[in-house]
Amino acid sequence: MMTIAVIDDEESTRKMAGRIMSKAGYRVETFAAGSPFLHRMEREPFDIVFLDLQLPDMGGLEILDHIQALHGQTETILVTGYGSIENAVEATKRGAFHYLTKPCRSHELCLMAERASEKIKLHQENRRLKSQVGESTLLPGFIGNSKAMQSIFAKIAKVAQVNCNVLLEAETGTGKQLTARAIHELGPRKKAPFVYFNCGGFSEELICNELFGHEKDAFTGASACKIGLLESAAGGTVFLDEIGEMPLSMQVKLLHVLQERQVLRVGGIKAIDLNIRIIAATNKDLMQLVEQKAFREDLYYRLNVVTIRLPRLCERREDIPLLIHHFIAKANKAFSKEIQGISSRALDVLLHYNFPGNVRELENIIQHAAALTEGEKLMLEDFPGHLRKLHLQGHYQEELLPLDDVEKRYIAKVLEQTGNNIKAAGKILKIPRTTLWRRLKKYGLSQATDCNGS
Ligand SMILES: Nc1ncnc2c1ncn2[C@@H]1O[C@H](COP(=O)(O)OP(=O)(O)OP(=O)(O)O)[C@@H](O)[C@H]1O
Ligand SMILES: [Mg+2]
Repeated sequence: MMTIAVIDDEESTRKMAGRIMSKAGYRVETFAAGSPFLHRMEREPFDIVFLDLQLPDMGGLEILDHIQALHGQTETILVTGYGSIENAVEATKRGAFHYLTKPCRSHELCLMAERASEKIKLHQENRRLKSQVGESTLLPGFIGNSKAMQSIFAKIAKVAQVNCNVLLEAETGTGKQLTARAIHELGPRKKAPFVYFNCGGFSEELICNELFGHEKDAFTGASACKIGLLESAAGGTVFLDEIGEMPLSMQVKLLHVLQERQVLRVGGIKAIDLNIRIIAATNKDLMQLVEQKAFREDLYYRLNVVTIRLPRLCERREDIPLLIHHFIAKANKAFSKEIQGISSRALDVLLHYNFPGNVRELENIIQHAAALTEGEKLMLEDFPGHLRKLHLQGHYQEELLPLDDVEKRYIAKVLEQTGNNIKAAGKILKIPRTTLWRRLKKYGLSQATDCNGS
């Protein structure tokens, strides 16, 4: 059962809210001032708080800060007179869930309580999922509850037990390296080395020297014998990243090593037996490179005994909240912060963003926001400009509202922009002044004036 606190100095409001919420199935307590509420909250947190912004003893924003410090998961809804909407807007920026303008109607209160509890339940579910994921047998910190990732995890667990070459084909930042590590860690080779080599941007000689090593005096400057990476991985796994970038001449040599399971150091004469597993990765379409004769077909088939294709982040958006949680925890550790979560507006934007850089990009975005934020919640304002713009353009989930609410909000907006000038507002809305007055009364927006400019 969700618990609700109503803090309001008007007895009638407390009574009305108390009655309606209990009827709707919540456990409600009411308070006439800020400090008795905070005393109570210290002992036992409430899930949802309806907070009047104008209280006799304390400022609403101050109470909001206390609530967030006491219990980061509490959702606060501010209740305000029309005159102090600006304060309420400021408060939502500081992490309040929403605001209502007075006089609130019972269905508005219920709707808010319902939405806040949905959000709380979603967060609880996320935490539950997270603890489940944490218990997974895979590498800690490899997150994914979507069907797509769950089937990848299952495949990783199977492949880990078999000593075959694996090709990881996926876009940048999707977790290829994590996957390679997981295969290594979950299999019988986990006690032996995991060796990383990036094939991109090196000449044939350099790659040869790195992978195969060289004998003393193999070339000028080779003053000592050097063990190559393949040899040094004895018993373990070699992860060849960006395999599509390997020069064709080098590909022949690698193929030879894979076929013979032996390596010859540069300048050496005696082949050395290799016991390694090869995992190769690419963010290119290797088959296409084969067709363009930029990658050897025989090497391609040698490497892709098993192929794992990791999904793009935008194909598994349901993992985004979990990943955000994970990266916030990581950032908290790194920056010694205690960020509790993310505002719903910011979450909305992230849930609808395309992430061309996939999980890596999400991680960077969260890190950036965590470094900048001064509060306990990551707010939209903490995120890079292109994401904030996305919010303005409305490429995020539209909140669906009852028609009355839309009318009320729109009228309030027009009033705000006309400096509460009824005549000007009526012109914009193309309704007679008398009609506008009636609406203002209906929605409790009646603090506007009719005098300016008339
Ligand atoms: N499923 C995941 N759970 C948690 N963190 C992830 C996940 N996938 C990726 N990451 C994180 O995102 C970043 C990029 O992952 P990784 O290096 O494995 O991707 P990649 O596919 O190799 O990227 P690139 O092609 O750019 O090299 C890393 O910091 C990694 O920890
Ligand atoms: Mg990588």
